[in-house]
Order: sequence, then structure tokens, then C-alpha cells
Amino acid sequence: MVKKCLFPAAGYGTRFLPATKATPKEMLPVLTKPLIQYGVEEALEADIKTMAIITGRGKRAIEDHFDISYELEHQIKDTPKEHMLNEIRQLISQCTFSYTRQVEMKGLGHAILTGETLIGNEPFAVILADDLCTNQNDSVLKQMIDVYDKYQCSIIAIEEIDIKESDKYGVIAGKLVDGTDNTYRVSDMVEKPDPEDAPSNMAIIGRYILTPDIFDILRDTQPGKNDEVQITDALLTQATAGKVIAYKFNGKRFDCGSVDGFVEATNYFYQKLKG
Ligand code: UTP
Repeated sequence: MVKKCLFPAAGYGTRFLPATKATPKEMLPVLTKPLIQYGVEEALEADIKTMAIITGRGKRAIEDHFDISYELEHQIKDTPKEHMLNEIRQLISQCTFSYTRQVEMKGLGHAILTGETLIGNEPFAVILADDLCTNQNDSVLKQMIDVYDKYQCSIIAIEEIDIKESDKYGVIAGKLVDGTDNTYRVSDMVEKPDPEDAPSNMAIIGRYILTPDIFDILRDTQPGKNDEVQITDALLTQATAGKVIAYKFNGKRFDCGSVDGFVEATNYFYQKLKG
């Protein structure tokens, strides 16, 4: 069973400077909710209640967000605005949050390895909160857990992209698993390839279910592109042994790590709110 979700949230968020100079990217709000709260809600929908968050310098606001602010509670009690805290209060009461700091930002793979101390020896989910996912029915992570239950190996979420954008993503090659039209057995993965080198137009997005052997593999993974430890390189070791499934999810994803994607998400949720 997948019981824990890891949120790597230590990155600098340079694409959002100067907003991210003193505010974590994960705390930027789409409407009134910070990105990371959407991620925690998605994990909870998948019945995961243990949240493990990788933070870094300047990320204290994340811890404060998932805690009670007594002064604020006192001020707002019995006023017409009290309901605005209901959602986050409920979340805090249903989940536990633990944190560890990534001291040097050596890439997503390194951030995930930093989380070993919070995860231990069990399969776990990973949500990159700047990829905001939404679906009318089962959440993307919930769908992935159903896939994990069937295949019992690492699962990565993929979506078809415009091949011109391949240098922003990890890109996979794989074969459809018999009898499915959305589940691939991965044979190759390349981190941020130029379009002419991309093995397909199927890109990895910020949702993973990982088996715990990934930690040993990450320990042995040398820094790759941009001198960062890439999770794609570690996953390739598992894929070579036939142990990675890519799942084309139902739903929408917004790349809220980019200004364009963030504005798109804001418009989408605003339209939804206004009916
Ligand atoms: P990004 O590639 O989006 O990097 O990281 P970033 O630093 O957050 O943003 P930009 O590119 O400078 O604008 C993908 C995810 O991996 C986490 C980030 O917090 C984000 O959720 N990450 C990245 C870490 O936790 N540690 C790292 O060393 C690198």
C-alpha cells in the first residue's frame, strides 16, 4: 500500500523571480489556495495521509501554512470570514506533515533521496506541486495508485506534448501494455532532449509512485544534465529491468512553474468558480 507522499519543494523557482525571492514557489496562490495545498488535497483524495515535504532555506512559510495560527484563529472566530479557513483546518486535522531540508539544491533526484529519512523502506508517491493536476473524477494520483496496485513497480505519469517542447521534460520510449491504451512498459527515458533526439512525444509530468529501491539507485547516480542528480537517470535503471510503467492519465495538468501555465491555471479555476 502507498501510505506516504513526498513533496520536493526545495527548488529556487527562478522563473518566478522576484516573487520567489522570499516566498516559496509552492506558496504562490492559484485563486486563494497555494499550489502545495492543491497537491496535499490530491494526495488525500488518494487516501494518503502522511505528507513528507522537502524544504530548504526560505521555505518556512510552507510549515506555517500547515499549522494552526492561534492569533488568526482568535481574530477570525465567529466572524463572516471564518469559513475561509475551513478547508485548511480540515486538511490539517486529517494529515500529518513532516519536513526535512535539502541543504544543497542538487536536483530533483537528490531532493527525493533526501526524503529517504521520512519515507523508509516502502513504496511512496511523489507530487511536484508546481504541476497542478485536476480531474472531474478520480485524482491523477488516485488513478496512478490503481495502476500501482496492478503492476507493483514504479509508475510515472505522462502526457503527450508538442515535440518542440521536449527540452523541458523527461521523455520516454515504451510499448503499450497488452489490452490497454494508456499504460506503457518503459524501455528508455531521456532528460530534456532536443526535439530531434526525443524518443517520443510522451513527457513525464510531476507525479510518480516509486518503489524504495530507488534510494539505493539514486545514491549511485552521478549528476547528469545541468550537474543535477536526475530522477530520470535513476528511473532508467529500473526501466532497464522492466520495472517502470508510464501511465497516460485522465485529467488536466498546468505547468505552474512557468508564468504561462500559472496564468492558464488561474483562468481555468476562476472560470470553474464562476460556473
Ligand atoms: P524545477 O525544475 O521546477 O526547478 O524543479 P525550480 O528550482 O523549482 O524552478 P526554476 O526552474 O528555477 O524556476 C522541479 C521540482 O523539484 C524540486 C522543485 O522544488 C520543484 O518542485 N527541486 C528541484 C528540489 O526540491 N530540489 C532541487 O534541488 C531541485
